[in-house]
Formats: sequence, C-alpha cells, structure tokens
Amino acid sequence: MVPPPSIRLFFALWPDVATRTALDTLARNVASETGGRKVATGNLHLTLAFLGERPAAMVPDLCAIASQIDALPFSLPFDDVGCWRKTSIAWLATSPNVPPLLELRERVVRALATLHVVIEERRFLPHVTLARHIESVIARQSAPPIEWQVDSFALVASTLDPRGVHYEVLQTFALT
Ligand code: 2AM
Repeated sequence: MVPPPSIRLFFALWPDVATRTALDTLARNVASETGGRKVATGNLHLTLAFLGERPAAMVPDLCAIASQIDALPFSLPFDDVGCWRKTSIAWLATSPNVPPLLELRERVVRALATLHVVIEERRFLPHVTLARHIESVIARQSAPPIEWQVDSFALVASTLDPRGVHYEVLQTFALT
C-alpha cells in the first residue's frame, strides 16, 4: 500500500522585509565570525512550534485551527547573540520572557492539542537561527537591538532540495 504523503511542518513568525534585512546583515556577520553557514535570507524565521512529519491531508485542519487563534500584534525585541555547541548553531534570541510571545505559543500548542497533535516537550527557547555548522563558538553578547513588529504568524513547510533546505509559507494568520 502506498503511504499517504507526508510533509514536514512548523508554525513560525515570519519576518517582514525590514526585519529580514536586519536579521540577514547580522547573520552574515555572525557566520563570518564563526565560520558557519549563513541561513539563506528567505529562510530566517522564529519557530513557534515544530510539528515534524505530518500527513499532508492535515494542512487544512491546521489552517482552520490557526485562523481561530485570537491574539493582538506585539513588538519583539532581539538583542542577544549566542550559540549552542551541541547543534553548532549561532542564534539571535529575544528576551526569554516576552508575555505576548509566550501566550501566542501557548495558544498554538493548545489549538494543536484539539487535533491531537502533541509537539515535542522541548523547552521553548525563542530564537532565530543565523548560522549553522559553526566552527568556532561566539561569546554570548548584546547586538544592536532589532525590533520585530509581529502582526502575523505562519504555517510553514520544510523541504529538502539539492540546494539545501527550503521553507514555504503555506498560510499566514493575522494577529488583530
Ligand atoms: P533550529 O533553527 O534551532 O534548528 C525548521 O526545522 C525549524 O524548526 C527550525 O527553526 C528548527 O530550529 C525548528 N525545530 C524545532 N525543533 C526541531 C526538531 N526537533 N527538528 C528540526 N527542527 C526543529
């Protein structure tokens, strides 16, 4: 029997053009400082909830529950650069305690539970991955603040093609 098609999915904050440009400049500097591979400009994002491989047929239901999430736009300050040795990732983080971000993540997790989708119990460490496969560590440091005006979130599909990982925004959900 042919297995049903599956798709690798996550909910994310997807930056507007100005934020993406600022993130990209920082990512270029951090990649060159660490000898890492800069994340492609169009791939820069903050993951809210990683779903992993799911049946493709689930996408309409995921969009339906996400579009019912009721939350207001908020501002997200990023100024904390660091790295994880274990995964060889350099990142830019928000303050760990931005209530509207934690609330949005919580609402997404609760909405997923209504579809019996349980996500990995990893501690939520809100970050934008700037560079992968870093060769040297970067000291934890403050970066010039990037203020991200969050007015939507997105359901994103991740695919691997010969040029690397590619993320496709399937649908965005406005915060109003
Ligand atoms: P990362 O950038 O720190 O690797 C798509 O893979 C996105 O989901 C990435 O932002 C990735 O975080 C995040 N993610 C969270 N948990 C993951 C997991 N178990 N496997 C792969 N990606 C994960």
